[in-house]
Amino acid sequence: MATYSISTFFNLGLLLLFANAMPLLANAKTQYHNFVVQATPVKRLCNTLSTITVNGQYPGPTLEVNNGDTLVVNVVNKAQYNLTIHWHGIRQMRTGWADGPEFVTQCPIRPGGSYTYRFTIEGQEGTLWWHAHSSWLRATVYGALIIHPKEGSSYPFQKPKRETPLLLGEWWNANPIDVVRQATKTGAAPNVSDAYTINGQPGDFYNCSSQDTVIVPMDSGETNLLRVINSGMNQQLFFTVANHKLTVVGADASYVKPFTTSVIMLGPGQTTDVLITADQPPARYYIAARAYASAQGAPFDNTTTTAILEYKTAPCPAKGGASSKPVNATLPAFNDTATATAFTTSLRSPQKVEVPTDIDENLLFTVGLGINQCPRGAPASTCQGPNGTRFTASMNNVSFVLPSNFSLLQSHRQGIPGVFTTDFPAAPPVKFDYTGNVSRSLWQPVPATKLYKLKYGAKVQLVLQGTSIFTAENHPIHLHGYDFYIVAEGFGNFNPQTDTAKFNLVNPPQRNTASVPVGGWAVIRFVADNPGVWLLHCHLDVHITWGLATAFLVEDGVGELQTLEAPPADLPVC
Ligand code: C2O
Repeated sequence: MATYSISTFFNLGLLLLFANAMPLLANAKTQYHNFVVQATPVKRLCNTLSTITVNGQYPGPTLEVNNGDTLVVNVVNKAQYNLTIHWHGIRQMRTGWADGPEFVTQCPIRPGGSYTYRFTIEGQEGTLWWHAHSSWLRATVYGALIIHPKEGSSYPFQKPKRETPLLLGEWWNANPIDVVRQATKTGAAPNVSDAYTINGQPGDFYNCSSQDTVIVPMDSGETNLLRVINSGMNQQLFFTVANHKLTVVGADASYVKPFTTSVIMLGPGQTTDVLITADQPPARYYIAARAYASAQGAPFDNTTTTAILEYKTAPCPAKGGASSKPVNATLPAFNDTATATAFTTSLRSPQKVEVPTDIDENLLFTVGLGINQCPRGAPASTCQGPNGTRFTASMNNVSFVLPSNFSLLQSHRQGIPGVFTTDFPAAPPVKFDYTGNVSRSLWQPVPATKLYKLKYGAKVQLVLQGTSIFTAENHPIHLHGYDFYIVAEGFGNFNPQTDTAKFNLVNPPQRNTASVPVGGWAVIRFVADNPGVWLLHCHLDVHITWGLATAFLVEDGVGELQTLEAPPADLPVC
C-alpha cells in the first residue's frame, strides 16, 4: 500500500507565504492510498479459499487519519466481481459521490476498472470502518478507519498507552458470493457462517486455528483503547474480556459518557470504543465474542471467537503447561435480550447536546421480514422458504429494489426519469399490531424503488418499528451520510401518547446505526443538512439482500455550501 502525505510540501509553502495563518491551516492533511482488490489465497479452518482482499490483506488495511484530514483512495478492481467501497459512518458532507453503496451513489467499479474516492473528515472522531458495498463482498473486503482528534487536541479521557482495533468478522468455508447466490435462487435463508473472527482469526476454539490466535499484549497497569467493530455479515455479537472491566467511551465515532460494563453488544455496522486497564494478576485472558441471536427458532452460528489479552510478564505459554491456558471469558446466553438492552440503553452523549425539536417530518417506518408466495408455476426448488415460500423483507411494506441502469444519485442529479419514485410512505400503509400475531394478508411486501424526499434542513423524527412477520428480531438500522440521536427505544408497539414522555432530549447517544430491539422500536432524530441520496437499511446483509431498505433524497439548500458537489470525472456509470 502506497501511503504518503503532501502536508509537508503544503505546509512549507504556507510557512513561507502565510506564516500567520499557520495555526489555522497547518493540521489538515491529505492522505493518498491505493486499494488493489483481488482474489488471494486465504487459509482458515483447515481450508484454503480464493478470497477477495484489499492489497492481499484480510482484513484489509487500517486507515488512520486526524479529524479534518482528506482521504483520497484509488480503488482498483482486479477481482471478477462488481465492486464498490463504502466508508461506513463518514458523513460525506456534499460528497455523496464518494459514499459507495452500489447503484445508490454510483454504479459498480467493473472488473478491470478503478475509481478514486475523495472525501474530508469533518467533525468526527473515533472508530469507523470501510467495507465493500456490493453483493456479499464485504464478508472479506473490510478494514478499520480510525479518526484521531486534530493534531494538538486530545481525547476527552486520559490518553491510553496503547490502541488496538478489534474487527469482529464472519467466515464461511465457501465463497460468500456463492452463499448469497444460492439463497437468492432457493428463496431460503442463506447458510450461517462457519466461524466468527477477531482481526481475521477464529481463535482457539476452531479447527486448525489456535496457532494463529490474535494476541493483544499489555503491560501490568497500562490502559489500552480497544476499538471494537462488528464487521460481521449477519449477526449481532456480544463481546467481553475475561476478568476485566470495560469502560465505554465511544460508539460509531461519537464520544459517549463513560460507563463501566463487563460485556458490550454490537450489531453489524456498529463500533464501540472501550478502555481496559491491565489491573489483574499477570496471565493470559480470553477476549471473546459470540452471537446475540434474538430471532426465535432461526438458525445461527453458535460458535465463539477468541483472541488473547496477554500480560507481558505472564508465564510463557510453551513452558507453563496447563497453568498458562488463558482464563475463560463468560458471555451472556445467546438470547439474553436483557443484557443487550441494558447496554444500548446505558449509552449517553457526554454532555447536553442539541437534539432537533420542532420536528418537520414525523415518520414511522416498519422494519422486518416478509414472506412471498411461490410464484405460479415456479419450481419448488426456488421456493425453499418456510412452507414453500420465498423470504423477503421490507420497510413500510416496500421491499427495496436497487436500480441497475443508473445510480439513484446520478438519476436525481441529472433528472433521469423512470429510475425511482419519491412516494415512499411516511407511515405504514396499513396499521396493525406490529409486534403481535400478524395476519397472513400483511406478509407479502411490494417490490419497488421508492425514496422519501426531505427538504434541505428538515428536522426529522423517525420511529423505526420492528415487526414480527415470520419472526421478530433485533435489526441494526444504518443511515448513510448522517449521525442521528437515538432519543428512545422500547418493546412492543410505539405509542406516541405514552412513549414521547420518555424521550431523552438532553444527552441521547449519537450513532449511525441503531439497534432496533427485538419486537420493539427505536426513535431517531436528525437534521437533513447533507444533500444527496442516502441509503437507510438493515445492516444484516441477509436482510438488505431481501429488501430491508429505503433511501432519503435530501434536496439541495441555498448556495454552494448547501449543494451536492459535481460528480467526479471518473465516477463509474452503468
Ligand atoms: Cu456499513 Cu450501507 O453500510
